[in-house]
Amino acid sequence: MEVIDNVRALRHRLAGERAVGLVPTMGSLHEGHLSLVREARAESSCVVASIFVNRLQFGPGEDFDRYPRSLDNDVRLLAGAGCQVVFAPGEQELYPRPQQVFVEPSPLQQILEGAVRPGHFRGVCTVVMKLFQMVQPQVALFGKKDYQQWRILCEMVEGLALPVRMVGGETIRAADGLALSSRNAYLDASQRAEAPRLHQQLQAVVASLQAMAPPADQSLASVAQQAEHACADGAAVLRSRGWEPDYLSVRRQQDLALPTPGDRHLVVLAAARLGTTRLIDNVEFTLPEFPHG
Ligand code: PAF
Repeated sequence: MEVIDNVRALRHRLAGERAVGLVPTMGSLHEGHLSLVREARAESSCVVASIFVNRLQFGPGEDFDRYPRSLDNDVRLLAGAGCQVVFAPGEQELYPRPQQVFVEPSPLQQILEGAVRPGHFRGVCTVVMKLFQMVQPQVALFGKKDYQQWRILCEMVEGLALPVRMVGGETIRAADGLALSSRNAYLDASQRAEAPRLHQQLQAVVASLQAMAPPADQSLASVAQQAEHACADGAAVLRSRGWEPDYLSVRRQQDLALPTPGDRHLVVLAAARLGTTRLIDNVEFTLPEFPHG
């Protein structure tokens, strides 16, 4: 495996590769990233993992400075997962001058995460577009733990006709259900014990919607009302345990809009702060189809 820090050497290394698979990361890798690398191996002739903590996607007062950085360990993990090239550019390589050209994401950038972190998705789309130009992958893989990011990046690829096939990886969880995240490293022991509650509350929302009796209960009003109640209950439980939820909401998988009649493919998403750590998670689910009439 080679570790490369500049675009010139990267292009030279990748010249002639038939199918390049890119796994963009901000480092501090865990099994979620490594599962994407393994999936990329099946999709491409050469797997590139990029490691770059992207200043542009952090707002003022967010954790850019303290974001965990562990390049040596990341390189070791990537080698073990069968990655062929690590692209770990410095700030100068990605942003030799203050970035003045941006990718403006779809309006999806304004809701949920975007409402709490203005400009976040513009920073994500801009760096991913730059990484796509530098690596020129045929396939790119992203974890669906960052569900809204995944949807927004798919819209970017489609909206700008980028010649990249997007593959979404399932969220990898610890045995107690906590979604793996580099930010879990911020949790102290008692917060780590409490952290799986976020996933439990998402599961409770899913269970309450799936328990609705067919078929009359599945009118839009019932689903929307039930979703609202279940999310309010879930947020109240989190608050009672010391969390500060930013949102807990049921949306359509396809475009993160509120469910409309007949929508069965849904996702419940949440973001909440536990102490100084902000965690996000989501669960995709499908409501059973009931005969009408
Ligand atoms: O999901 C991440 O780690 C980052 O948002 C990404 C896609 C690598 C862009 O910096």
